[in-house]
Amino acid sequence: MTAKNKNVSVMASKTGFAAPNWHASAPETQKFGVVIADIPLGLSQKVRTEIVGQLNLLLADSSTLRDLYKKCHWQVGGPTFYQLHLLFDKHFGEQVDIVDGIAERIQTLGGVSVAMGGHVAELTRIPNPPKGREEVPAQISRLLEAHKIIIEASRALARKAADLGDDGTNDLVVSNVLRPNELQVWFISEHLVAMPLTFPG
Ligand SMILES: [Fe+2]
Repeated sequence: MTAKNKNVSVMASKTGFAAPNWHASAPETQKFGVVIADIPLGLSQKVRTEIVGQLNLLLADSSTLRDLYKKCHWQVGGPTFYQLHLLFDKHFGEQVDIVDGIAERIQTLGGVSVAMGGHVAELTRIPNPPKGREEVPAQISRLLEAHKIIIEASRALARKAADLGDDGTNDLVVSNVLRPNELQVWFISEHLVAMPLTFPG
């Protein structure tokens, strides 16, 4: 056995080859805001940088709305508790899919998706709700305000993407962001209609 091999053998007996090396640390491989230059999509880096910037804002807003739905799901109360508890969670699940679709489009375009809550909070255009509970009309109004911000941003981004030749982003934003958000608006805004439950006696 050579001296070098003996050293390796001694190290292995001390640490074990099967032990996971879970203390890895390295610089970022791609900075947030930087878009990869050469990608075979037929879209220039300039166009993709513009679109990725707008998509990250939409992603931050959608992540915030997703979490707002879970907050409402947990904190709702009153006579409509059960139906709203379920509806808010259904919309939460749909927003999870919306968030994933936007994030993966950003990565597809060579960008970096905003991911963690603290970073989302830096970017979102949706006002921060209070930590505590709110009554149902205030919860729903807050959700509708958030939807309006996302819907208006989606229409503007869809037009911009079409103008710049990014049909894939246009399709994603119209089909998978705008229209599901419009439908969710309908479902929750109907709860604010002053509809009597019975005929007056
Ligand atoms: Fe739940």
